[in-house]
Amino acid sequence: MKILKTARAVQNLIKKERCSGKTVGFVPTMGCLHEGHLSLIRRAKKENDNTVVSIFVNPKQFSPREDFSRYPRNKKHDEYLLQKEKVDIIFYPSAEEMYPHRYLTYVEVERLSSILCGQFRPGHFKGVATIVTKLFNIVMPDTAYFGQKDAQQAVIIAKMADDLNFPLKIKILPTVREADGLALSSRNRYLDPQQRRDAVVLFKALQQARRMIRAGARDAAGIKRTMATTIRKKPSVSSLDYIAIVDAKTLAPVRRIQKNKILIALAVRIKATRLIDNCIVTAP
Ligand code: PAJ
Repeated sequence: MKILKTARAVQNLIKKERCSGKTVGFVPTMGCLHEGHLSLIRRAKKENDNTVVSIFVNPKQFSPREDFSRYPRNKKHDEYLLQKEKVDIIFYPSAEEMYPHRYLTYVEVERLSSILCGQFRPGHFKGVATIVTKLFNIVMPDTAYFGQKDAQQAVIIAKMADDLNFPLKIKILPTVREADGLALSSRNRYLDPQQRRDAVVLFKALQQARRMIRAGARDAAGIKRTMATTIRKKPSVSSLDYIAIVDAKTLAPVRRIQKNKILIALAVRIKATRLIDNCIVTAP
């Protein structure tokens, strides 16, 4: 396993691999790896000759009020996990490597970036689209792997890759969950035991919506109201940023649920910790 710190070193190595006909799978991460990340890495390993994992806590996707400085970092343990998975290359750049002095260029996916989480995290998806563009240009993968856990991020990156003609495939893999349904997230470690118990309400509300739709409910507003009531009952819930029922591909709001695939997504604050989750439903 090679640990590379500069863009140039990764590009040189990848160019050689690609020249000899080898394929490259890529999993971008912010580290503090868990089974959700590992599921993407295992798929990349299975489908490619080389697997590259990047670890970079991207300052440009955190607003000044957010948790950038306290975002969990665990370099040694991440390296241990990636060694165990037999990853070929870790790209571990510094902030200066990615954003040198007088950095000026950004990528913005319009419209999709300003709705749902974008309303509550202005600039977040611009930071994500910019870093992912840079990483694609450095790693030059055949296939890049993302998690359904971050559904809006996945839609934005797929749109960006399509709009900007990136010569690669984007694969979105299912959300990995704890036994009780809580989606794995690096931020779960902020939760105390009571908050951890209450956090499962995100999953429970999604299941409730799915059951209502199976039973014939079609009015999105009614489903959202029921979900909100369930969520607000938990004492650790400090605010409900949003519950959205949207078209899974375009993220356009859905009023009446019809036969196309819909995404039910939500963001909830459990005291100071902001958690997101979602599910995709097709009405029977
Ligand atoms: P991070 O939160 O570290 O997530 C890296 C990848 O793992 C993302 O594609 C995310 O959707 C996926 N992931 C996280 N939790 C998951 C779970 N429980 N099940 C399945 N996949 C999961 O997302 C980012 O980093 C950053 O925004 C990044 C894309 C690296 C750009 O900085």
